[in-house]
Amino acid sequence: MDIEKIISQMTVEEKIKLVVGVGLPGMFGNKPSIVPGAAGETHPIERLNIPSTVHADGPAGLRINPERENDEKKYYATAFPIASMLASTWNKEILFEVGKAMGNETKEYGVDFLLAPAINIHRNPLCGRNFEYYSEDPVLAGELASSFVEGVQSEGVGTSLKHFVANNQETNRMKIDTIVSERALREIYLKGFEIVVKKAKPWTVMSAYNKLNGKYCSQNEWLLTKVLREEWGFEGFVMSDWFAGDNPVEQIKAGNDLIMPGKTYNVFRDRKDEIEELKEAYERGEITDEVLNERVRAILKVLVKTPSFKGYKFSNKPDFERHAKISYNAASEGVVLLKNDGVLPFSAETKVAIFGTGQIETIKGGFGSGDTHPRYTISIFDGFKERGIKVDETLGEFYRQKVKEMRNGDYKPVFVNNFNLKIPPKLPEDIVDESKLEEASKRNDLAVIVISRISGEFVDRKAEKGDYYLSDDERKLVENVSEKFHKKGKKVIVLLNIGGPIEIASWLNLVDGLILIWQPGQEAGRVAADVCLGVVNPSGKLPTTFPKDYKDIPSKTFPGTPNDNPTEVIYEEDIYVGYRYYDTFQVVPLFEFGYGLSYTKFDYKDLNIKLDDENIEINFEIINTGNVDGKEIAQVYVKAPKGKLDKPFQELKGFYKTKLLKPGEKEFVSIRIPLRDLTSFCKDKWLLEEGEYRIRVGASSRDIRLEGKIYLKPKVFDL
Ligand code: BGC
Repeated sequence: MDIEKIISQMTVEEKIKLVVGVGLPGMFGNKPSIVPGAAGETHPIERLNIPSTVHADGPAGLRINPERENDEKKYYATAFPIASMLASTWNKEILFEVGKAMGNETKEYGVDFLLAPAINIHRNPLCGRNFEYYSEDPVLAGELASSFVEGVQSEGVGTSLKHFVANNQETNRMKIDTIVSERALREIYLKGFEIVVKKAKPWTVMSAYNKLNGKYCSQNEWLLTKVLREEWGFEGFVMSDWFAGDNPVEQIKAGNDLIMPGKTYNVFRDRKDEIEELKEAYERGEITDEVLNERVRAILKVLVKTPSFKGYKFSNKPDFERHAKISYNAASEGVVLLKNDGVLPFSAETKVAIFGTGQIETIKGGFGSGDTHPRYTISIFDGFKERGIKVDETLGEFYRQKVKEMRNGDYKPVFVNNFNLKIPPKLPEDIVDESKLEEASKRNDLAVIVISRISGEFVDRKAEKGDYYLSDDERKLVENVSEKFHKKGKKVIVLLNIGGPIEIASWLNLVDGLILIWQPGQEAGRVAADVCLGVVNPSGKLPTTFPKDYKDIPSKTFPGTPNDNPTEVIYEEDIYVGYRYYDTFQVVPLFEFGYGLSYTKFDYKDLNIKLDDENIEINFEIINTGNVDGKEIAQVYVKAPKGKLDKPFQELKGFYKTKLLKPGEKEFVSIRIPLRDLTSFCKDKWLLEEGEYRIRVGASSRDIRLEGKIYLKPKVFDL
């Protein structure tokens, strides 16, 4: 395809149309989407055989409408685990498989771009969209998202790596000015994007809503042109987030190639339609031919690879059975076992009473653009039954009835915003009375309590009861169940069906087992049951710290100032995000970054570190010393010497997940870390400071099993 020839045949008007989307499908008088439920489209230029291309969310599965007008057929998509759970797998192959399956559904439903992955940093546990994001650590996020992008794009459709950059909250997300040092940007917030752009070459990057140090990301030439293209060599195109920024001319000039969804400046801002504005700017000479051609070229180079451009005949029939298995596998590797006082796994013969409305309304994922519409979500209650666990059916039926009554009564879904987004309010958890509880504790051998949370786009979570903290009725439920069961010598397990950290420290002692099942997608109940039974040996580890209390967190300025309506958020904690803060300032978390238990045990031995001019190579062995099969995630942290720059106590530089090891079986692990990755950012350079580097190999960030040292000479790397 001769792109230069196409460009030479295009009129200025056609070029301007190509850099602006067609408008939010089906709203504000725009025509409905080619694929109902998709988020946007590019303009077709029929005269030159350039078709429209279709863009749809998102990170947990393709987001399209399951139903269409005058059509009996359903258009479901597989619901995969949320991104934080995918990150808990620490398994690149799984991320590739999930990406490939999502990419396949994207292609088979006639969509060209999947608006994922989202890799913003978990700066603060209350960010409403953290569930869509991977981790507090950019290396873990970047490495895993690279595999995801490779998986999606192996199907011949595009990804959109988002939200570029420092979009770490929902409160006032379209206007907030994020003030952050260049060092923290480079080492933390940009780092994951840099890894993915260089390794996986995403077809597109989505510029974020927020301002970055005073300038909207979508109008920020430093970000979109200097860093992304000139330094990192990005070759795809940049699209804005939906309705982002306040000036289309600045967007185009800065390097934001495509303005999405289009036709919004006249609706949301007090301005003309952006196509009109761009035309006027072109006539004034403010947008030159050179700039316009550059934007068009970037877009066309990608568009010619899309299924729509190639005339792909999609089937509308993805292989749901295969994808359900992939969703199940990913979820089962992402479950994190947090506590086990001899209660797990239990046998299917165990009589189990399940408490909590989440056993019926199990949360598959968060709300907003990161939501999906699957064929089903297996609830915890149904999953337990299906897997043959002797659940207390009377109690389960009671919960089912109660949930139904409440949802038909005072707890109907409520609107969250003006995009018709409706969310069911949280149900009370004080519905089992004393005598029912007493009976259940007599009839059963074990109690399982489900604690659920949902959060999503548009709103941040709150450090309040019912959200970050247990509500009074949830706490009562945990206390009462634990008292009744423990009195009879019976144990209690809690399943956390949540999208991000909650406060646990104050009630952890009341329970014997604690399993983080996250928001695991459509296979939820099956995965939870299989972990409880030991059919799956949990092998996930935390991609984000669970602090003891909200007051312990580093990002004290969240969500910014002034308090009631923040316009600015200063990242005062700088590079000390997540474990970098807890470890450096000796704040002990409840469950540290990288933590997760197993039903077996692993030993680490024979550390051997080699050094050449460009890399260090870290070799060691992992042995399964327990009684059951299991996988281990080994993590390599490096403690750099303090030189000119302050350094965090340690930083994750590599990781490896073993295959399923049988009891007694060992695996040799070799992790290569380029010296460039050991540097810190210092005024336009990456600096490797001279001194002793401690190589810490651990089962978590605070469970270091092997330690070695190397001495490195100073070295400077260009950006
Ligand atoms: C979200 C993006 C999403 C887009 C299209 C925006 O509100 O921030 O993540 O891709 O909408 O749905």
